[in-house]
Amino acid sequence: EEELHHIVHLPKVELHTHFEGMAPPAFIRGLAKEKKVDISKIFRPDGSYDYRDFWHFLEVYEAATSVLKKPEDFARLCTAVLEKSAENDVVYQETFISPDFCGGGDVGAWKEYLHAIEDAATAAERDFGITLRGIVTCIRHNGPDQARAAARCAAETAGGFITGFGMGGDEKQGKQRDFAWAFDCAREAGLQLTTHAGEWNGPQEVRDAVEDLGVSRIGHGVNAYTDIALLEMLAEQDITLEVCPGSNVFLGVFPALKDHPIQKLRDRGVNVTISTDDPPFFHTTMRQEYAALAKTFGWGEEVFRELNATAIGAAFCDKATREAIT
Ligand code: HPA
Ligand code: ZN
Repeated sequence: EEELHHIVHLPKVELHTHFEGMAPPAFIRGLAKEKKVDISKIFRPDGSYDYRDFWHFLEVYEAATSVLKKPEDFARLCTAVLEKSAENDVVYQETFISPDFCGGGDVGAWKEYLHAIEDAATAAERDFGITLRGIVTCIRHNGPDQARAAARCAAETAGGFITGFGMGGDEKQGKQRDFAWAFDCAREAGLQLTTHAGEWNGPQEVRDAVEDLGVSRIGHGVNAYTDIALLEMLAEQDITLEVCPGSNVFLGVFPALKDHPIQKLRDRGVNVTISTDDPPFFHTTMRQEYAALAKTFGWGEEVFRELNATAIGAAFCDKATREAIT
């Protein structure tokens, strides 16, 4: 009991969150009211986000995000979400930010959104003691042309706050290699790379992510667990999985946490880390993730310290930032 309390309150490093996906429903409702847009259909009577499955989630996500219009709206979002993360003892966080939602891929507009977010993050670092870094993210179901525009935005703002480039969205659309130009563009700008793979598709998707895009991290990647040779390759190449156990269980990727392959992945020597993905959408928090993992797998404090050390090692920030959070 005492150990669980200690584990739950450990300082945490979180690598996989979607910026808009961290917005509490009350925050989105407040903005909708201010802007006089009716998105009441995306909420349940109890106020939580309402969706049936992952694909409906993506629609509800876009509807919620539609009330975030100006750079200032994203700045307010940044302050709100970092306060929540800090309440969960998160000391360092990386978040996916999409030019698709911030200016539609126009570099000039993107810079205005990004500066507003970055200023809010700097203030939150001072006020709440949490460091944020951004991963510019293309959206797979928006296609390769939009992804190229996102990559150009990323390249134009690489360095400092923006440390990486990634891809989210519907894994069932297209192939990883369709986005190779975007990832090459980001790599040439000095950005580190991650892509969602192996959440809805099988191990081949994870292989494609590594072989066709050259990423050093994978969003989820959990369906790699059935392919022993792939797990050996991930371990060998020091690839890190951004595992989001609560998200996976809530969306039905695995029936319950006890069925989640995270322990198997660790046993095979794969680098794994813990994140919440879109906490209010999946009714989770970093404290809840730690508590559930400790109970379900019987992990002690040393395991969580190891998971955090892995996350720090795989963080996309520079060495000085990395050292400041250790
Ligand atoms: N997965 C994939 N794409 C997303 C997500 C997610 O959890 N959230 C927002 N876009
Ligand atoms: Zn995700």
